[in-house]
Amino acid sequence: MKKIFVAISLILVGYFAVAQKQVSIIPEPQFLKVHTGNFTFYKNTLFIAPTSWKPIAKYVQQITSTSISTLQKGNTRIIFKENKKLAASEYTLEVSSNNITIAAKDYAGALYGAQTIVQLWYTSNTPSRIACVTVKDKPRFEYRGLMLDVSRNFYPVSFIKSLIDVLSIYKINNLHLHLTDGAGWRLEIKKYPLLTRQAAFRTHKTWKEWWKNGMGYLQEGDPLAYGGYYTQNDAKDIVAYAKAKAINVIPEIEMPGHSDEVLAAYPNLACDSVKGRTGEFCIGNDSTFTFMQDVLTEVIGLFPSKYIHIGGDEAAKGHWKKCTKCQKRIKDNNLKDEDELQSYAIKRMEKFISGKGRYLLGWDEILEGGLAPGARVMSWRGEQGGIDAARQNHDVIMTPGGTCYFDKYQQNPAGEPEAIGGFLPLQKVYEYEPLPAALEKDKQQYVKGAQANLWTEYVPTQEHAAYMIFPRIIALSEVVWSNPAAKNWAQFQEKLTAHYTLLQAFNINYCRPSNRVDISANIDTATRFATIRFNSEQFKPTIYYTTDGTNPTTASKVYAGAFLIDAKATIKAAIINAKKSAPDSILVNFHKAFNKPVTYNIPFSKGYPAAGASTLVNGYRGSLTYQDGQWQGFTTNMDVVIDLQKVDTIHLVQANFMQIIGPGVYMPKYIEVQTSVDGVNYTNQGRDNNTVSSTESSLLFKDFKVQMNPTAARYIKFVSKLQSGFQFIDEIIVE
Ligand code: ACM
Ligand code: ZN
Repeated sequence: MKKIFVAISLILVGYFAVAQKQVSIIPEPQFLKVHTGNFTFYKNTLFIAPTSWKPIAKYVQQITSTSISTLQKGNTRIIFKENKKLAASEYTLEVSSNNITIAAKDYAGALYGAQTIVQLWYTSNTPSRIACVTVKDKPRFEYRGLMLDVSRNFYPVSFIKSLIDVLSIYKINNLHLHLTDGAGWRLEIKKYPLLTRQAAFRTHKTWKEWWKNGMGYLQEGDPLAYGGYYTQNDAKDIVAYAKAKAINVIPEIEMPGHSDEVLAAYPNLACDSVKGRTGEFCIGNDSTFTFMQDVLTEVIGLFPSKYIHIGGDEAAKGHWKKCTKCQKRIKDNNLKDEDELQSYAIKRMEKFISGKGRYLLGWDEILEGGLAPGARVMSWRGEQGGIDAARQNHDVIMTPGGTCYFDKYQQNPAGEPEAIGGFLPLQKVYEYEPLPAALEKDKQQYVKGAQANLWTEYVPTQEHAAYMIFPRIIALSEVVWSNPAAKNWAQFQEKLTAHYTLLQAFNINYCRPSNRVDISANIDTATRFATIRFNSEQFKPTIYYTTDGTNPTTASKVYAGAFLIDAKATIKAAIINAKKSAPDSILVNFHKAFNKPVTYNIPFSKGYPAAGASTLVNGYRGSLTYQDGQWQGFTTNMDVVIDLQKVDTIHLVQANFMQIIGPGVYMPKYIEVQTSVDGVNYTNQGRDNNTVSSTESSLLFKDFKVQMNPTAARYIKFVSKLQSGFQFIDEIIVE
């Protein structure tokens, strides 16, 4: 009897202790204090709000009254109060045991206060109760965005709305829709009905099949057509829905490139030099400007956004070189080249858009040939475009491919749906800092925020889109909202575990935290010690490991922090639970070529140098991504010579290559090894041919090996024959 009582008391003490100690608000507020006690929601909890904020109060009421466990009657109140002294989007929130008070200057601030309550509601350990807190909060950056590419794949209005619901909970305030591209035009334009009648539907369901099979369009209504578009009413509906959630919708209408679908419907807008398909408008043709202005007039009427995005990226300028109209335009306007021709087009559009009281927004290519006076820039090819634009006093939104492109893999590609390539795990998003260190302090004010982009070539369903967006956008929300000093990855991981319930409640698919163990080896070449560290997306997992190549079990060592290795070792590590089968592993190998000089007869790719000349003999291998700083890339054959610095006896040369064909990374056709004692006369030691299919679309690795009878050698010449695209190698092991 007594024992049971003690046990129950302990459970209760534990229960309330947890509920009172910890709240999980994402993004982390600027100021948060958790008090003892709870506020309870009852069916008759009173909501008081100024008229224009009543929809916000109603939203909180709807959520907090839906729980079956909500108690019937009590005496609690939620009061929304206007406070003109606060800044735009700022709010204060005071939760005490009987009252919740939210104060804000504007609608967005009031909504953010409400969203913090919604988060407390879904992440609370005690049904119908939330912890008493004081929050004072405002965003670090005014622009916090997500771009969804609805051209490469079309998503229904209902999905856009459910996305808006959840983005708003994380205080994201801009949804950029990439409405037009070669894969389909997605917005009804009254003046140009052929855009949707002829170019909003395609021959194949997925972008990949369509791309491989002629990229054809089909008429609206064709029973074999795939695609769709937003009617003007749909657009208004989305805009109004988003506005209620304090989200601005930015329309993007691409020009002068990425416009194959327009030119399929209106071929007269292409250069006269073009035969067949093209993605570029003719800039020499005034009809192009009439078209763009007519389209943008309707777009501006539908979308109140201060930013109107005109694309501007990746235009191929070759047709313009051969087009009489484009060349005449260059001559008549004293333009230097085709870069300035593109700039001419953007400047003309900028004048038009600013004349309508809006800002032109474009990808960073709009810097080429000179930036239009009022243009705003989205920096996607790294941060340099953003830095350059900020230095010219133009507002900038950072969206660099390396940290903001959500079309990349987020976990081991071997277990993921096919993606375009690359690797962007949650932690890398979380650690992004939008203010570049290289940007002068007085120019940092021009960086207005950051945005994640989901391009959807490989994202054929809405469930898949949500999976790519969540939880990475939740990590980005803390990047753009919170104080960088308050960011803490371990704390974020812990908070996130509580937010999965919220995503589930909103029926949003998301990527579960990986059970992979990231193993990193930091080798000190002088002392020949490797420091081994493990990392994981799980919150505080138990990681078992071995260093002898055997698979870890629950009887193996438990990781308790970094440890040292001083000899060749295969380290295997695993979080052992029901979902995990294969352990992760790395080979640390102080082999005979370790830390020896490497001479490149053909240089490595400038874009993928890894750690330069030390990479191939630094004692360890790369991970799952060629962007991890261990994989060296070549767009040519590879031809290097390793100098062992003394004659040694060797019997094996081995090298690991990667294949991931989405981004064009292929196995070499073969590798070949020659050895020499004097660096002049070489003996051929053999060749190892590729055996991996070049059409296999998953991520693959292959060890190429040349074995030989024990041979005296000082110099080792290693050649690998390029098959196609890139070849990536991480280490040449000599034994
Ligand atoms: C882009 O990724 N082409 C902006
Ligand atoms: Zn032309």
